[in-house]
Amino acid sequence: MTSTRLTIGYALFLLVGSSMLCDCNAFSPADNYLIDCGSLVNTTVDNRVFLADVSLYSSLATPSNIFANTTANSVSSFESSSLYQTARIFIGPSSYSFPILKKGRHFIRLYFFPFVYQSYDLTSANFSVSTQQFILLSNFQATNSSVAEFKEYSMNINTDTLILTFTPVGKSLLAFINAIEVVSVPDDLISDSAQSLNPIGTYNGLKEQVFETIHRINMGGLPVLSAQDTLWRSWQSDQSFLINKNAAKFYSFTETINYVQGGATKDTAPELVYSTATELIASNTSLSLYNVTWEFDVDTSFPLMIRLHFCDIVSKVLNQLYFNLYINGLIGIEDLDLSALTTNTLAAAYYVDFFLRPSNGSGKVHVSIGPSTLANVPPDGILNGLEMLKMNTSMSSFDGQVSIVSKNESKRKLALLLGSLLGAFFVVVIAVFLFWVLSKRRKLLRNYQSKTWLHLSNFKDGIHSPVSKCSNGTTHQNALGLQFPFAVLQEATNNFDENWVIGVGGFGNVYKGELKDKTKVAVKRGNSKSHQGITEFRTEIEFLSQLRHRHLVSLIGYCNENNEMILVYEFMKNGTLKSHLYGLGLPPLSWKQRLEICIGSAKGVHYLHTGSAKSIIHRDIKSANILLDENLMAKVADFGLSKAGPDLDETHVTTAVKGSFGYLDPEYFRMQRLTEKSDVYSFGVVLLEVLCARPVIDPTLPREMINMTEWAMKCLNKGQIEEIIDPHLSGLIRTKSLEKFVETAVKCLADYGVDRPTMGDVLWSLEYSLQLQGSVPTTSKMDGLNEVAQLSSEVHEGKSGLKDNLSDASMSNVFSQLMESEGR
Ligand SMILES: *[C@@H]1O[C@H](CO)[C@@H](O)[C@H](O)[C@H]1NC(C)=O
Ligand SMILES: *[C@@H]1O[C@H](CO)[C@@H](O)[C@H](O)[C@H]1NC(C)=O
Ligand SMILES: *[C@@H]1O[C@H](CO)[C@@H](O)[C@H](O)[C@H]1NC(C)=O
Ligand SMILES: *[C@@H]1O[C@H](CO)[C@@H](O)[C@H](O)[C@H]1NC(C)=O
Ligand SMILES: *[C@@H]1O[C@H](CO)[C@@H](O)[C@H](O)[C@H]1NC(C)=O
Ligand SMILES: *[C@@H]1O[C@H](CO)[C@@H](O)[C@H](O)[C@H]1NC(C)=O
Ligand SMILES: *[C@@H]1O[C@H](CO)[C@@H](O)[C@H](O)[C@H]1NC(C)=O
Ligand SMILES: *[C@@H]1O[C@H](CO)[C@@H](O)[C@H](O)[C@H]1NC(C)=O
Repeated sequence: MTSTRLTIGYALFLLVGSSMLCDCNAFSPADNYLIDCGSLVNTTVDNRVFLADVSLYSSLATPSNIFANTTANSVSSFESSSLYQTARIFIGPSSYSFPILKKGRHFIRLYFFPFVYQSYDLTSANFSVSTQQFILLSNFQATNSSVAEFKEYSMNINTDTLILTFTPVGKSLLAFINAIEVVSVPDDLISDSAQSLNPIGTYNGLKEQVFETIHRINMGGLPVLSAQDTLWRSWQSDQSFLINKNAAKFYSFTETINYVQGGATKDTAPELVYSTATELIASNTSLSLYNVTWEFDVDTSFPLMIRLHFCDIVSKVLNQLYFNLYINGLIGIEDLDLSALTTNTLAAAYYVDFFLRPSNGSGKVHVSIGPSTLANVPPDGILNGLEMLKMNTSMSSFDGQVSIVSKNESKRKLALLLGSLLGAFFVVVIAVFLFWVLSKRRKLLRNYQSKTWLHLSNFKDGIHSPVSKCSNGTTHQNALGLQFPFAVLQEATNNFDENWVIGVGGFGNVYKGELKDKTKVAVKRGNSKSHQGITEFRTEIEFLSQLRHRHLVSLIGYCNENNEMILVYEFMKNGTLKSHLYGLGLPPLSWKQRLEICIGSAKGVHYLHTGSAKSIIHRDIKSANILLDENLMAKVADFGLSKAGPDLDETHVTTAVKGSFGYLDPEYFRMQRLTEKSDVYSFGVVLLEVLCARPVIDPTLPREMINMTEWAMKCLNKGQIEEIIDPHLSGLIRTKSLEKFVETAVKCLADYGVDRPTMGDVLWSLEYSLQLQGSVPTTSKMDGLNEVAQLSSEVHEGKSGLKDNLSDASMSNVFSQLMESEGR
């Protein structure tokens, strides 16, 4: 592994460096994101402020916020060492998002230093780093605890946001990062074409390439630190790359470099690079001529762009210096005459780009300068700087094997699928809508004319009485509960302060609020322009006002003043179940807590199905609609899509398909026949979500894992239960409890509604699972084996041949993994 950061430094050099700090024409990047990951304070390095990671909460999605620090130092990087003292540790896929202000080429710089923090040993982390389009690093491990690693990439970003994702792979459950830079690159730094050596010609298309810097060298001089470079690049000294040091001498120049005539700018390379060179020693016996050769390690499976920097600082007069340039033995430029290339100026900065496909096997690239064969030319030659960049292939990855293309493909497929689903959905919606418009035209007109959304008298008989509009700041008690004046809710929510938003629904925001008497409330403010919203709000009021249950979120009141659609609910301090499972980095819930939450929500749904004369189908059961109060008691929320269930003499309600992707009952989807069993299916998805703690649809995962339910069922069928269990629960679930739970989830997910249990059965099974968990966190290992075997066979019940797949080998595998997880 090579690193572009230097390995040694001199205090003296730092002094020299700091005198070069101010460059008043310095490039000012449009995007300049510098983050000191895992740090609680801002860190200034080279006059640049790397922001504390805490201020970026909103742009980092990670399962758990782990800030790590160390006092250990890296032996290999004295530069930026303060950035290496803290790290973010990721225990699951985690993404930083950077809004891109100016599309185009950007540097992405990553700093890694593996240290041990609490129980996390970062040398064991094995992970990938990718953007939306490209895998920068895959199966990356930093195994030497005394060496910091630095990676620099440059790529075109044509999206509004750059999402940088860190994903633990293999057996490792860890990823980490010490610091990140995402910085704009000047447009003209990389031109589109380069001189190609094999085949000979011109290579076009550099602008679209992703590059990884593998070497950046200052010939004939000391290292150049990032603070001395207008683009904060580091340059190494060439000494350790020279093969025949005896043939070379170092030359440095003290006058000003001409940046006008040669085509290079200060952003191409700083003066420090152009004002030193390694020069060929002119032999005094013209018979013994040498080449000066540098040798570089490369990964030969990727093409390279090699940029060479020249500046004739050695000649006293024009047209004195002629030499040959070779790359891997191929002639790059013959009789190179810098005077001619820089319109007859000495000390003018010039560069040339080459495209090279490195040859197989050696893993090396050689760059040489050698004497010209022209007559009457003294042997000489110079090189001032070199950059060697790895280029991407069509694989969209800097790993030979893995490609992000397959991911994108499955994303496209998902998009296509969603597209066609939505298409079908809209056809149905339009048909229903037309029908509705025709039959309800009168009511609709009346609603429009009165400009108020709530006509409670339109609701079902007997339940509600019409409500008089409230005024003068008082609240009115009525059949529905409280009617709130708008002003009261305005005050309670700090005038609908954006910072008080605790949730965003399809038709408006949910704000936290506090009434005068200090009662905390959640205030859902609908968008009165949305007719969909009107329907859903009515539905919600209609159902919620009829239903009172411990495990259903209760409606405190509403407001229909000023054409507003506002509902006021009891405040659920702990937010959604979803937020506790993944994405927000909240502390993981224990298995018991999860079971209790499942039981609570099952009770809520069970009550919906059976609690009143006519059953109510929720239609949008998902983890985001299960709310948790301060004691983590679960309540089912959001009845906007709810529908009365089938009458006794009917088997189902025929209705347009609505709900949330990933939770939709496939049978309801196919047949548009809605029964209570559709809720049971969605509840089964929630159960799996609780077990796996991952999104039900996650397009960033490998194709077979995108849909949680499919993936989990596949793993369960193969007996690989441990594959899907939230690592936080690993070893903490009693096998019998797990068995009952998984069996329940699997039954809920049966293809046909008739095969699914009722919510009452589900509730019973979950309570049984809780009992089986008992108070002991783990169970004995021999038990474990038998239980898993039994569980596997139950899961496979009815599917012929599956039992046979459970060969002894795979069982012992299950056993050993079980031992492993329970041994912790
Ligand atoms: C870090 O710097 C940013 C921008 O200068 C500032 O907004 C922020 O408050 C600072 N954070 C800390 C923890 O000092
Ligand atoms: C990490 O930071 C904490 C809080 O600032 C400090 O108490 C602790 O000593 C630090 N640990 C190391 C190893 O630097
Ligand atoms: C880690 O790197 C240091 C410095 O390069 C080296 O001396 C040491 O041998 C390396 N350790 C291992 C285990 O490779
Ligand atoms: C890292 O994980 C990958 C993917 O599972 C695996 O192939 C590789 O061997 C692991 N690397 C190491 C050094 O363990
Ligand atoms: C070549 O020149 C160097 C000084 O420039 C001198 O020391 C050396 O002896 C010379 N070698 C020969 C073979 O003349
Ligand atoms: C320099 O290297 C090139 C390419 O390997 C070779 O053709 C040439 O003969 C070498 N010149 C000298 C003086 O060794
Ligand atoms: C490089 O090696 C691979 C197999 O290792 C071979 O198929 C290919 O032809 C080689 N290419 C060249 C240019 O030698
Ligand atoms: C990678 O390289 C290919 C050509 O080799 C190019 O078409 C493609 O756009 C490049 N960029 C990415 C992000 O894959």
